[in-house]
Amino acid sequence: MYEQASHSLLNEILIELKPEIGKHRMRHFYTRLGANFYAIHSLFRLLYGDRPAFKARMLSLVETLASRDMERAPGLRKSDLAREKDYNWFLSQKWVGMALYCDRFADDLKGLRANLSYLQELGVNLLHVMPMLDCPPDNNDGGYAVRDFFRIDPRYGTTEEVESLAATLKKRDMLLALDIVVNHTSEEHEWARRARAGEQKYQDYYYVFPDREIPDHYEETMPEIFPETAPGNFTWDAEMGKWVMTVFNTYQWDLNYRNPAVLIEMVDIILFWANQGADILRLDAVAFLWKKLGSVCQNEREAHLILQLMKDCCQVTAPGVLFIAEAIVAPGEISKYFGEDAINAKECEIAYNATLMALLWDAVATRSAAVLGQGITSLPNKLERATWLNYVRCHDDIGLGFDDNDIRRAGFDPHQHRRFLIDYFTGRYPGSPARGLPFGENPKTGDARISGSLASLVGLESALESGDEAAIDAAIRTIVLLHSVILAFGGIPLLYYGDAIGTLNCLEYLADPAKAADNRWMHRSTFNWNKAKKRHESGTVEQRIFNALKKMIALRKEVTAFADFDNRQLLNVANPNLLAFSRTDPQNSRNRVLVLVNFNDAAQPLAIDGLRGHGFFVADGMRDLCTGERVAAENDSLILPPLSCYWLTD
Ligand code: GLC
Repeated sequence: MYEQASHSLLNEILIELKPEIGKHRMRHFYTRLGANFYAIHSLFRLLYGDRPAFKARMLSLVETLASRDMERAPGLRKSDLAREKDYNWFLSQKWVGMALYCDRFADDLKGLRANLSYLQELGVNLLHVMPMLDCPPDNNDGGYAVRDFFRIDPRYGTTEEVESLAATLKKRDMLLALDIVVNHTSEEHEWARRARAGEQKYQDYYYVFPDREIPDHYEETMPEIFPETAPGNFTWDAEMGKWVMTVFNTYQWDLNYRNPAVLIEMVDIILFWANQGADILRLDAVAFLWKKLGSVCQNEREAHLILQLMKDCCQVTAPGVLFIAEAIVAPGEISKYFGEDAINAKECEIAYNATLMALLWDAVATRSAAVLGQGITSLPNKLERATWLNYVRCHDDIGLGFDDNDIRRAGFDPHQHRRFLIDYFTGRYPGSPARGLPFGENPKTGDARISGSLASLVGLESALESGDEAAIDAAIRTIVLLHSVILAFGGIPLLYYGDAIGTLNCLEYLADPAKAADNRWMHRSTFNWNKAKKRHESGTVEQRIFNALKKMIALRKEVTAFADFDNRQLLNVANPNLLAFSRTDPQNSRNRVLVLVNFNDAAQPLAIDGLRGHGFFVADGMRDLCTGERVAAENDSLILPPLSCYWLTD
């Protein structure tokens, strides 16, 4: 019955579509619209069914899809078709990503195009360029406070240069991922400026209130994201004479998706960037898309409906384009951004594995895999056609967002354990070699996150300062073993731009008043090309890290068992310092790898009887893919060197 109503609405809309759209040859568009319309209509009705002019809004949404479809270049249409056929293409082990800032890595888009060889040398073939859109020069949250969604910051270049970058990448069989900041705009965005000037239409794009009554009500349950620099979730705008919701910084105004016009604008923006050649769109801060009084205003059901709607719209116009969910939330909530009760992702195909990332840092501090192993056991399953983005560091702070129960199961008190982790990484814990800083410390709750570059957090900075060779070696080994996990775990590994050459903390941001209060800038340094050159000098720190990662990346691409087809099994080993899991090629079960990691700084024994039950070590030894050497047990025990990792095959 409802399906029929949906069908007739589709017919009415098609008749009403602007004549020029109707005339255009859009065979695939009509097929894809037909296939997705029921879902789009149902979701739109769930979200906006009670809003006036429902049908006109639906028409406007379909018009948006059609207009952007007309613009889609032939090359992109071709890749849409190819990816529709080979729909699991992104689950392959062949993809290895890197996130970088265009300006900090290579000044601008031209520079970036000219320096792709650095990525290729390492084996990286998925490039996530951090946001490049027009932002105010100072209050920009590293590009996440967008002033104009259709304009590249002129310091980086032009939209045409993004297209050229995408084309160059395509020729080299590389992928481009771009950010879409869906949750908020800069206070200088045209919508915000017009809202400020009193236009009701644009005040309705945001959460705007005349007095504190509703904001106070919201504040009762909303946590603070940047408690030190931007306490509270509302900002008084003197010009507008009203309060506006600003969950992140005071200059980032939260968009109000209760207004269908906002959704339609954002779908248009998504499709615009899909049309410039992005293969993947990283949707920023998606957990925050829907605010509800009396709740924490994160992970609301409607946030998921909005993402489903965005995905379905993208399926119509740019079906080859994938979404990454940037939802740094509790482990049980993250996987919901793939979509629930489905096989294929119906929201985002890829999600940041923030849980694994935080657990890895736990293993670094404790030098044990006790909490890590528990946390991996409780990681929610992903959908079949979906995958994780596995990372060690990124441009943000490290939130210790794993489950208290996993900490308890590993034998620790959650509160004390988190306190220990913060003390450890900020160097307050006696003997800790880490050089991080606390980020977002909230005196009201005692919570804190951690800033710092990978190398400085694992002790490379302090080791270099003291010239302690053993400590330098330990830091390098730690960097390598953390990457060995993200490369072998299942999912797309995402490296962070300075990490392959051991980039240390950079304190230059302190001299810039616009950045000084946000210590995440300490791990967003300008890429040091002189340091990078040392990757070719034998025996340097840079060479030792770069070569090890390069080798593992090349190996990963060869090992089909590393593709992500729910083919990982965590193996119970009696020694809590060790992590052990197997990866098996679902097409050929003889093709498998045993991953063993020792997080401890002392050599660790591993009893192999347990592994025999899984079919490993039945012969006299196994071969380590990374070194090519045979690894054999003695007296049924294998000794893993300090801070080491093995990828073993028969
Ligand atoms: C995301 C970004 C972060 C930014 C925030 C607000 O979490 O990764 O850098 O501050 O969104 O846009």
